[in-house]
Amino acid sequence: SAQLDNQAISILKENDLGGYTIPTKGLYPYQWNWDSAFVALGFATFNMDRAWEEIELLFEGQWDDGMVPHIIFRKDDPSYFPGPSVWGTTNPKIPTSGHSQPPVAATVVRRLFEQDTSAAGKEKIKSLFPKLLAWHRWYHTYRDPEGHGVIAIMHPWESGRDNLPDWDNAASYVDISDIGEYTRKDTSHVNPEMRPKKIDYDRYLAIVKFGRDNNWDPKIVAEQCPFFVADPGNTFILLRADRDLLAMAEALGETEAAEELKGWIALTEKGIAKLWNEEKQAFCTYDLRNDVLGTGISSASFLAPYAGIREEKYINPTREHFDRIAAKVNYTMPSYDPDHPLFESMRYWRGPVWGIINYLIATGFAELGDAARAERLRTDTVALIEKSDFAEYFDPITGEGAGGNSFSWTSAIWLTWAT
Ligand code: DGY
Repeated sequence: SAQLDNQAISILKENDLGGYTIPTKGLYPYQWNWDSAFVALGFATFNMDRAWEEIELLFEGQWDDGMVPHIIFRKDDPSYFPGPSVWGTTNPKIPTSGHSQPPVAATVVRRLFEQDTSAAGKEKIKSLFPKLLAWHRWYHTYRDPEGHGVIAIMHPWESGRDNLPDWDNAASYVDISDIGEYTRKDTSHVNPEMRPKKIDYDRYLAIVKFGRDNNWDPKIVAEQCPFFVADPGNTFILLRADRDLLAMAEALGETEAAEELKGWIALTEKGIAKLWNEEKQAFCTYDLRNDVLGTGISSASFLAPYAGIREEKYINPTREHFDRIAAKVNYTMPSYDPDHPLFESMRYWRGPVWGIINYLIATGFAELGDAARAERLRTDTVALIEKSDFAEYFDPITGEGAGGNSFSWTSAIWLTWAT
């Protein structure tokens, strides 16, 4: 509706701190990586220049080794913990966090490029292309150091799906004896029942301490980080982003880069077999430190179509799990399997629905020609926003909103897809 369109636009404008957008006031007062990518799609519906600017400012935080951090701390804000001093990164340009987040940016940049046929649009991708390529190379080098063709995360926050039950076992091996006292801020903004528990935060901070103690050296992280888990989310998102970057390489005549990208794509297309749980008939996590294949089905298990995977042995069971879960909830797609004992409908990434994930899954199904499942995801997202406004996430059973409100990426997804 026009009213929700206007509301979504005002939220983006209110959360705009001048060229970059915060996810929501209070809870997340900085620029977040994949939030900004989705926000750019929202801006592109009414202000193309502002959409490009969001991505350009994100890349101001890029490290010399290619990594694009998950948070860019332009100014210190005491309402957030852990802030820049806890991260202790030495990136010379702008204070940032020390690890990355799901690499959706290349996919977004390709869409902006297709929408913006002006000469300026071509200049924008020319300057962003090498930065995106360097980031993807960083991911393939340091988050897949043994060349399995799957992408690991060094911290649950790197997956963007922070509190997924699938991280629990791998994180239980992280030594938390040395983290000291700390005060969380998130639970002063949001009902603690909707946020991670103390044990999870202890582990988050212990991994941050490991990174800080090792100067965030990605080689040391790859070899020694106490948490190193291959994630179907980041693997499928990067595979998709590699394909989009390849399309841009071809449009720009970047032949050498195109060859490099084709190599990564071929490696990953094979590598995903490592994440396939034959017994569950689903894509799961793989704990590379402890050699354990996960058994949980999460919203990322449905991203194979989005990544361009077409093999029936993967796609047919994916559709079956979709239908099983869709029959069980009122609103698709819960972040975790409602048939799993660790499912919690309101707690961060342990059950709630995210609009941005629905958009990614639906994009994949639509590209498969599976309009019905894509449309179920879209109409459910519309119904959630109509019922509970632009919340951070939603209960898949009751449709209640949870987490932060007036949330940027929910608004952006409304404008670019749901409306
Ligand atoms: C948080 O603070 O919960 C963020 O998701 C970390 O990126």
